Amino acid sequence: MIDRATLETRIAALAGQISADYAGRQPLFVAILNGSFMFVAQLMKGISVACDVTFVRVASYQATESSGVVKEILGLTEDIRGRDVIIVEDIVDTGLTMFELCGQLATQKPNSLKIATMLFKPTALRADVSPSYVGFEIDNKFVLGYGLDYDGLGRNLAAIYVLQQDAPTETTGGN
Ligand code: IMP
Ligand code: MG
Repeated sequence: MIDRATLETRIAALAGQISADYAGRQPLFVAILNGSFMFVAQLMKGISVACDVTFVRVASYQATESSGVVKEILGLTEDIRGRDVIIVEDIVDTGLTMFELCGQLATQKPNSLKIATMLFKPTALRADVSPSYVGFEIDNKFVLGYGLDYDGLGRNLAAIYVLQQDAPTETTGGN
C-alpha cells in the first residue's frame, strides 16, 4: 500500500513539522508499544529540538460490570505534569484506544497533549479524537508492516501492506 521511500519521506516531513511547532520547548514523546516502535525510531531521527522519549504499553481487558473494554497504561514512570506530550501511535482505527489514553493522560495535567500517528483510518473513527500529526490517511482495510502486525507477524516489513483476506465473504475490518 505504501512503499518504504514514500513512508520515510513523509515521516521526515512530519518530524520537520513537529520540530518547527515545538521550537524552544522540550516535548516528551510517549510511544505506544509494540506497534509504534519502527515509526517512532524513524520519526526521532528527524526531530531537531531537545526532547525526551518514553515507551508505554496499553493493556486492554473486559470490564466485569460493563461491556466496555478498559485500557490501562503500563510503564509510564515520567512525570508528565506541565510537559508538552506527544503520543506516538502506529495507527488510529476506531480511535477508542487514543480516546481513553488521552483522557487518562489529561488527568495528569500535561501542558499540552497531541497525537502523532503514522496511519489514520478516518472512516473507521468512532471516538472524539483528532490526531494532530498524521502520516497517511488510509482506507478502512487491515494493514501490516512497519511495526504493525497481523497475529504477531509482519512487524519487520519495511513498507505497509494490505492483508489479503482468504475468505471472499470476509468484509469486516480487523483490529
Ligand atoms: P483503535 O482503538 O481501534 O483506534 O485501535 C488502535 C490499535 O488497533 C492500533 O494501535 C493497532 O494496534 C490496532 N490496529 C488497528 N487497525 C489495525 C490494522 O489495520 N493493522 C494492524 N493493527 C491495527
Ligand atoms: Mg497499537
